[in-house]
Amino acid sequence: MSRNRVKPIEQVYDHYTNEDFSVWKLLYETQINSLDGIVAEEFLKGLEILDFNSKKIPDFKKVNEKLDFISGWSIKTVPNIAQPKEFFTSLANKKFTSTCWLRSMEEIDYLEEPDMFHDVFAHVPMLTDIDYTNFFQNIGQLALELINDEEKLKKLQRLYWFTIEFGLMETSNGKKIYGAGIISSKNEMKNAFSNKSIKIDFNVVEIMNQDFRIDIVQEKYFVIKSFNQLASSFEDIRRELFKN
Ligand SMILES: [Fe+2]
Repeated sequence: MSRNRVKPIEQVYDHYTNEDFSVWKLLYETQINSLDGIVAEEFLKGLEILDFNSKKIPDFKKVNEKLDFISGWSIKTVPNIAQPKEFFTSLANKKFTSTCWLRSMEEIDYLEEPDMFHDVFAHVPMLTDIDYTNFFQNIGQLALELINDEEKLKKLQRLYWFTIEFGLMETSNGKKIYGAGIISSKNEMKNAFSNKSIKIDFNVVEIMNQDFRIDIVQEKYFVIKSFNQLASSFEDIRRELFKN
């Protein structure tokens, strides 16, 4: 199904086609409407700060200038999902690995691997929040310390999965999404707010022992109270990882 294309290793803005712009617009408009009232304020603020909109595909150079000023982060372009070592090394250095290609119109609802709509629309706005990025960077640093310890690395991957990708947040206006895997998927969004899925309070020990599947919508979501809670959870995470 995936079209046979060369995945660029850096963004050359002039190389985007009319179809790319149409795909970005369609995905952006569909998702932003679905997210109305159910996404974290911090995400919406990030979209605004970075000037993301349906009309133009984000220009990484401009995005990086803004991010650098706000949080010191930047996008590092990769052709496909980065391998763990490259991914975690980048995080530790405040770099978020992202693709810069878009799915085709044919693939609009089905995608074999994350493209820049997932990476950029769903992840990058969150890089404007300092507590969130502190947590994110800490995961990278810890993962590098543990890079040769498969079991512990798996625990960190679960933490990443149940927060950065599939995290929910309890607010005074109800539960909101901040996980990129939910933000960029209509099915996941529906599932997260349905009675079919279980929502439980954020607990690092439980998350680190919770397996996940990548081929189905999630059965369980962990709910934080704030990004400050995430950022403050690192002592508990370290304690759990380094006990005896
Ligand atoms: Fe992702």
